[in-house]
Amino acid sequence: MSRGFAGRFEHVGQEEVSPLIFERSVPGARAVDLPALDVPAAKIPAGIAAAQPADLPQVGPMELVRHYTLLAARNFSVDANFYPLGSCTMKFNPPVNEAAAALPGFAGLHPRQDDVDVQGALKLLYELRLWLAEIAGLDEVSLQPCAGAHGEYTALKVIRAYFKDPKGGNAPGRTKVLAPDTAHGTNPASCAMCGANVVTVPSKDGRVDLDALRGMVDGETAAMMITNPNTAGLFDDTITQIAKILHDAGALLYLDGANMNAIVGVSRPGDFGVDIMHFNTHKTFSTPHGCGGPGAGPIAVRKFLAPYLPVPQVEKNGAGAPGTSGPAYYLSYDRAKTIGKVRSFFGQFSVLVRCWAYIAACGPVGLRDVAESAVLSANYLAARLRERFEMPYFDPGAKKFCAHEFVTVPKTLLATGVTLIDVAKRLIDHGIHPPTMHWPVHNCLMIEPTETESLQTLDRFVEVMLNIADEAQSNPELVKAAPHLAPVQRLDEVAAARTPVLTHGG
Ligand SMILES: Cc1ncc(COP(=O)(O)O)c(C=O)c1O
Repeated sequence: MSRGFAGRFEHVGQEEVSPLIFERSVPGARAVDLPALDVPAAKIPAGIAAAQPADLPQVGPMELVRHYTLLAARNFSVDANFYPLGSCTMKFNPPVNEAAAALPGFAGLHPRQDDVDVQGALKLLYELRLWLAEIAGLDEVSLQPCAGAHGEYTALKVIRAYFKDPKGGNAPGRTKVLAPDTAHGTNPASCAMCGANVVTVPSKDGRVDLDALRGMVDGETAAMMITNPNTAGLFDDTITQIAKILHDAGALLYLDGANMNAIVGVSRPGDFGVDIMHFNTHKTFSTPHGCGGPGAGPIAVRKFLAPYLPVPQVEKNGAGAPGTSGPAYYLSYDRAKTIGKVRSFFGQFSVLVRCWAYIAACGPVGLRDVAESAVLSANYLAARLRERFEMPYFDPGAKKFCAHEFVTVPKTLLATGVTLIDVAKRLIDHGIHPPTMHWPVHNCLMIEPTETESLQTLDRFVEVMLNIADEAQSNPELVKAAPHLAPVQRLDEVAAARTPVLTHGG
């Protein structure tokens, strides 16, 4: 029996409802009982041993479980809260995906196992490779990158290798990459990491300014990175013209596929002129994500870029067909012009399992339904909120609709002196995760409901937003002092981010 049980019950009163784990600490308490040592104790060499033991909290099993249960209950998550975080596609994550990823045959694999022992896993990866190529309308896919930004980085390396190859693009001087002013910050960051010279293309009414683009594409341009629908929630319907402008100049069109949720199953990037793209599988094809992970950012390319893809690639061996010898599926390193490895072993395998499970469950009709419902939900919300929350790009009367997300710049509300952070904090009082703020334009909220929210949830969100707009007029101080119902009130977020302090009750 662990000693952690002893002596704490009598102290549990109101003031101890949510102590820090350090405040729960009792010297000598343990949450686990380890078996007696059955090997000689090893001494940590003096040079690397800490001078003092780490000052860690010491708690029993119940304290430990309650600590984490309490934290989990306070956490904002898709499973507990409406989470309309624009550009992040925080959609429902079907538990069946988790069950698939947790199957012992997948979860227990070791990356160094022989191909012959992991045929099921390789088959899954091979099928996913083909499915993503089909969804993209492109020829070949690498599953290796482990996030959207990592997909961008890998794709830019592939583009660079293509232009440096005398038998490929044969234009090593092409180092310029264009990106619209609505681009996600990872786009210019990836360019910088790959040594590309990034140049910003201005937007006109939220979409790429074609005249400006024409004037910017030249013999040094390697590619343009575009997000479509873009981060203002608008589908760039001049995309085929954009592709032509680039292709006529010998440059490539790259799609940041973070917003594929709006078009998956409806239109294929390869069909509208894209040469290379990444998927954010953790968005479009669901995976619990947040705080930077876990994710997967496979890239899809046209045939002429395939020789430069990372290794290994999962392949199917004709010789492995029934009645022949050798494994049917195998990892191939045979790619002479490859950019090399971009990830240890094969990539983010369990996220790829979730992606496979999601696509398999949806099928082509279901995937199309995902996009159509996501777009419908966003347009419904925009239409209902528009009267009180001004929208620069949304006007159904003028046939200006949004894609799967929309931007509001609520000028009337802001004129009351209430700020967007106040609105965000007030939403927390209603158990709603705040939308993205100040991006892609200053003083905006970017709202992405996703296809998985019910009409009731969307209506409740509208009601809460309209209430906040009323409160901003009638009682702005109430909004400015929010949240009132959260465990902690206003925090100095800048100080918390810039000067984090680890503190405890000891
Ligand atoms: C438009 C866009 N591009 C790229 C990314 C980067 O993706 P990841 O967070 O998977 O690296 C995001 C992420 O939010 C995004 O919204």
